[in-house]
Amino acid sequence: MLVAKTISHMRRALDNTKCPLGLVPTMGALHEGHLALVRKARSENATLAVTIFVNSTQFASHEDFATYPRNLERDLTILEAEGADVVFVPSNEEMYPPGFGTFVDVGRIGQILEGQFRAGHFLGVATVVLKLLNICRPDRAYFGQKDSQQCMVLRSMVEDLNLEVELMTVPTVRESDGLALSSRNACLGVEERRAARVVSQALFAAKAMWESGVKNADLLKRQTRDILARESLVAQIDYVSIADARTIEELEVVEGKAILSTAVKIGSTRLIDNVILEPQELL
Ligand code: PAF
Repeated sequence: MLVAKTISHMRRALDNTKCPLGLVPTMGALHEGHLALVRKARSENATLAVTIFVNSTQFASHEDFATYPRNLERDLTILEAEGADVVFVPSNEEMYPPGFGTFVDVGRIGQILEGQFRAGHFLGVATVVLKLLNICRPDRAYFGQKDSQQCMVLRSMVEDLNLEVELMTVPTVRESDGLALSSRNACLGVEERRAARVVSQALFAAKAMWESGVKNADLLKRQTRDILARESLVAQIDYVSIADARTIEELEVVEGKAILSTAVKIGSTRLIDNVILEPQELL
C-alpha cells in the first residue's frame, strides 16, 4: 500500500494503476461505516484509493475541528488489511496553500437543514471533494447514506459541473442498539452513549408509524421529536425533517421517496442520522 502526502505524489501513484479506480474520501478515525465503503469500493474496482484529510473548511470556527478524532497510524493499518492500493494523507497546507480562494457553492441544497445549522459546511465539503476528485480522477466515489444531505449536495455538484464520476451511496452501518456509526460517537461519555440510541429509536418509531399508514409529515415529525425529548441527555434538537429524497425540500404529505432526518446534541456531541421512507411500489 502506497501512502502519498503530496498532490504530485498522489497523481504519480495513480498514473499507471488499473481501471476502474474507486475512491473513498474520509476524514479518518475509521470505523465499520467507513469499512463498508472501503469494502464495496474494493469489490467493485481494480484499484482502490482512500483519502484521509480532516478538512478545515467544512468546520465553522466554533465547531470541533481541533478535537475531531484523529488516529492516522491505526487508520493506515486498517486500510492495509482491507487491501487499499493508495492512501492520500495531505496536510492542510498541501490542500489549502496561501492564497487559496476558490469555493464551490451548490446553492440552496447546501443552505437548508445541515447547511442552516452549519453555515458554510457544504461549501467546504463540495470544495474539498471536487479537489479530491480532480487530484485522483476516480471512476467511482463512495459516500455513506448517513450523511444523506452530503450525498445530495455532491450529486448536485457532479451533475451541475458535468463531472465524469459515478457517485455510489452505501447504507448506514449501525451498532446493535441502532446507533449509526460515526467518528463523533467516540466523543460520547458512557451515559451519553447509552442515551444516543434514542436518535435511531425516534427515527425508526416514526418510520413504523409511516409504514402503518400515517403520511402526514407533521405527525411523523412530532412523533420523532416526542421520543427524542423524553431522553434527558438530549441537550438540543437542531431539526427533524421529512424531505423529498431528490430535492430535500420539506414535505407536508409523504407520498414518494422521502428522507426523515434529524440532528441532535447529546451533551456537547452533535449527531445526525436519517432513515429512508420509500413506498414499496417505488422499490
Ligand atoms: O464524510 C466525510 O467524511 C467528509 O465530509 C468528506 C466527504 C470526506 C469531505 O471532507
